[in-house]
Amino acid sequence: MNTTLAQYLSRSIERNSVGLAVKDTIICLSQASKNIAHFLSKNGLLNNEMGIQTGDVNADGDSQKALDVIADHEIIKAIANKDVAAYFSEEQDTVLLLEQKGNLIVCADPLDGSSNIDNNISVGTIFSILPRKNDSFEIDHITNDALQPGVNQLASGFFMYGPQTTLILTIGNGVAAFVLDNDEFVRMDWEPKLTHNGNQFAINMSNMRFWSQKARDYIHKCLDGEEGTFAKNYNMRWCGSLVADAWRIFREGGIFLYPEDSRKNYDTGRLRLIYEANPIAFLVEQAGGRASNGKTEILSIKPNAIHQRIPLIFGSKKDVANYENQ
Ligand code: F6P
Repeated sequence: MNTTLAQYLSRSIERNSVGLAVKDTIICLSQASKNIAHFLSKNGLLNNEMGIQTGDVNADGDSQKALDVIADHEIIKAIANKDVAAYFSEEQDTVLLLEQKGNLIVCADPLDGSSNIDNNISVGTIFSILPRKNDSFEIDHITNDALQPGVNQLASGFFMYGPQTTLILTIGNGVAAFVLDNDEFVRMDWEPKLTHNGNQFAINMSNMRFWSQKARDYIHKCLDGEEGTFAKNYNMRWCGSLVADAWRIFREGGIFLYPEDSRKNYDTGRLRLIYEANPIAFLVEQAGGRASNGKTEILSIKPNAIHQRIPLIFGSKKDVANYENQ
């Protein structure tokens, strides 16, 4: 008999008020993910041109698609009137205040990789759940609660909408993977682990001319294969959806890199600390891997703004250490 997400959470989470709130929030997010998967499946059908641009750009300057907005609304609908005090979204400029007495803070990238939607390539919803730190419902105070280092996360994960709708989740005691089967998330036999070294690297190679010398030297060593410093033949993969690239790294090991580069607005990388890097880093560390900005652990970094970008390098410990020591 397969373990459902609800059964897994009931068995694994502490039965105190915060634990129960985390459980409830994850179940609500899983409900939102089912609706998002449904909307995605309609994209491109007559009268359902949801991959179209809304004409707006989000807080991070990416052009917004109708489905980004739909995914954002689904999450808000799911976590409203629950134990969540505030929602921070990559699609919104500022915080959305929810329950004044809520114990939790939710941060999310509602539809990661959305530039891939019209090409039917996997996209996903990334989330991070943090504890509320102060009672004030003032915007400045509650925003400070989103700026906790990632090590404080109570849970994180991502839903991926691909051939299957899946979830990789951590509540701080390892990582579990689930697949949607008949409207129910059930646990997969596979347990994501990053304890072995991989032979894959994932990076957008078209940016090579903008990289630092460190990033260039590292990738050159990967390309040198068995004859080179790493004495290993690497394979390269790049989906352009963080969730899809991350899933593959969890399955096969190796390294993902989105380093800083010399393009305008890329000097601190592309990916967002609280919506993307922190939740992925929590999963990675819980799976026995390492996530870094190239120098320090992602989870130890105190965010300075809700839309802060950060270089993100994660994967098998040795591969990431090789990059850091470059
Ligand atoms: O942050 C959005 C995102 O689409 C990630 O999912 C992905 O890893 C990255 O951007 C791809 O960036 P680029 O288009 O520069 O390769």
